[in-house]
Amino acid sequence: MRTVMREQFRQSRAGEIAIRWYLTILLVIAGTLFAADRARGQDDGAKLFETRCYSCHNIGGGDKQGPDLKGVTERQSREWIEEFVKSPSAMRSKDPVAAELFKRFSPTIMPDQTLSPSELDSIISLIKNLTSKNETFVPSGAKLSRAIVPADIVAGKELFAGEIRLANGAPSCNSCHSVNGIGALGGGTLGPDLTAVNIKYRDPELISILQAPNFPTMNTIFTNHKLTDEEVVQLFAYLQNAKQLNPTAAVVPTQAAATTDPGFLILGFAAATLVLVGLNIFWRKRSHGVRKEMVRRSRI
Ligand code: HEC
Ligand code: HEC
Repeated sequence: MRTVMREQFRQSRAGEIAIRWYLTILLVIAGTLFAADRARGQDDGAKLFETRCYSCHNIGGGDKQGPDLKGVTERQSREWIEEFVKSPSAMRSKDPVAAELFKRFSPTIMPDQTLSPSELDSIISLIKNLTSKNETFVPSGAKLSRAIVPADIVAGKELFAGEIRLANGAPSCNSCHSVNGIGALGGGTLGPDLTAVNIKYRDPELISILQAPNFPTMNTIFTNHKLTDEEVVQLFAYLQNAKQLNPTAAVVPTQAAATTDPGFLILGFAAATLVLVGLNIFWRKRSHGVRKEMVRRSRI
């Protein structure tokens, strides 16, 4: 009788330990996945923001063609932001805050943006996250594919002026823009003069505009006729050099260094650990129960 019970006890203990390990592993996996998912959400938001909004908006770092979006999630409700982003000009006629913004940023008008609710959520959580940490958005893709060499300035000027055609078939920059001293007749006037453009924008901001200009006039052309990585380097070098024609211009503040955020991983593990602790307490009670049962049975 005793041995049978001991055997039963051993079996139930072994089963219990196995289940416990199984649950532990499951929880660690779930915790890690949760953390990875949160991190991916942030990445998606950052990527979207970089390609869709960053031409006109900073998060921290000041106004560009549009207002700095730092803190916008504290100024406005999610519903307001959603409605605004969907159709800024529709908001202008019915919302005094939007009307005021339009006046301040005229003549630039934010074009309607088509974002799915989850895309908007990922951008909003990016803005919230950076705002709460008082950090500036740093685009991860806005880097040159290689270091600049002096020959790039000449090549960039030729690209700008249309002496060399852009590889993917976009019209040359000088059909709409001028830079001091380009061509005898100067360039086009549909777009602004770009002589001091690299004073107006920090390096990553300007690189990002060359990679994915989201201004209405430019993006209709450049979305389907992107500049190549080489052209970005050469045009950047040329525009960078244009600053030397403007020695009196103000020094450009340097962009804050990129920070990677281990917070989400830690959060995930913390969540998993908490649940584990809870589970342990639960199991301790359970094994008490088992023991009580054994004692009860041994008395029979
Ligand atoms: C072509 C430039 C441009 C692009 C691209 C752009 N915006 Fe804007 N945005 C503006 C301007 C300009 C305003 C100010 C209102 C106006 O004049 O249209 C504005 C205003 C806003 C506001 C209100 C800000 C406040 O302080 O209340 C939000 C929110 C916003 N934009 C979000 C976005 C998001 C999100 C994207 C990308 C999906 C985006 N914008 C893309 C130019 C742009
Ligand atoms: C079809 C006309 C057109 C062409 C071609 C064009 N742009 Fe533009 N660009 C514009 C307009 C217009 C703006 C002003 C923003 C707006 O309203 O769209 C602009 C804005 C810019 C800006 C931001 C300027 C500022 O002061 O904020 C940069 C930088 C720029 N363009 C660079 C280029 C480069 C480099 C090329 C050639 C590869 C180019 N553009 C080709 C029309 C053009």
